[in-house]
Amino acid sequence: MELLDRDILGGFAFRWLHILVGIAWIGLLYYFNFVQVPGLAAYGDEGKARNITIVNIAQRGLWWFRWAAVATLATGILITGIVDDYFKGFMGEDSVFGIGHNVSISVGMVLGITMAANVWMIIWKNQKVVIANAANVLNGQEADPNAAACGRRALLASRQNMIFSVSMLFFMVGASHFYNVFARTASPGDAWLFFFIAIAISALLQLNCLGIFGGTAPTNKLLWPYENHKNAIISSFVLWGVLWILSEIILG
Ligand code: HEM
Repeated sequence: MELLDRDILGGFAFRWLHILVGIAWIGLLYYFNFVQVPGLAAYGDEGKARNITIVNIAQRGLWWFRWAAVATLATGILITGIVDDYFKGFMGEDSVFGIGHNVSISVGMVLGITMAANVWMIIWKNQKVVIANAANVLNGQEADPNAAACGRRALLASRQNMIFSVSMLFFMVGASHFYNVFARTASPGDAWLFFFIAIAISALLQLNCLGIFGGTAPTNKLLWPYENHKNAIISSFVLWGVLWILSEIILG
């Protein structure tokens, strides 16, 4: 039963499960961003069709989406707990898996954990209001005046997660297949510097999607990355390019 060997369990079996549930989560994130949101917008004034789609499709999709996020987070954290000495030495010269590996997986994990927090604390919290409103209106009850603002907050966080996803996956896969080689000899000081710059840039974006810098209204120019899915795709690759080039300069 090689699969029960501690290093194989953490290094392979949980990694496989982690990628499986990660695909489910990010697959649904891309479905919501690229298919469902533009599809609902295309309904225009057909309020009834929109509400039926929200109740029958979005509600089901969001169940799988939020539990896949939990499963991805749990299996990811379990990998670090089961594999022997995973973070031993962390960003020190004597780190077991190397400074390059550890700084890369740390950036990937911070992005992934932020995304999981967005799923539960922003997207789901606000979508519950949107779904309840759609169901009430279909039953002939009064519309909730807060539903549109809740939908907007959920949309901004969902597009932010889409933007983070490209860099998150790059640093996650890069830990064992790129940064472990190219940044193996980076100094602890450089690793921390890159880590803090990457986290600071991501934190500014996260605060921006919450509307901290000028609110959530479409008139706020800082919300350009979230105004449609094409802007979000462009922004995701700009963020990835900036972080990758910074890592080459600082860690290389
Ligand atoms: C939610 C927070 C997440 C945490 C805490 C986390 C944690 C981890 C850890 C510890 C590893 C092992 C890295 C290594 O040492 O090689 C890993 C690898 C990986 N993760 Fe995540 N992860 C998260 C989210 C995601 C998501 C959303 C995806 C999307 C599919 C994903 C996909 C992957 C992939 C593809 C690998 C690389 C496997 C390899 O190249 O060998 N992770 N993750």
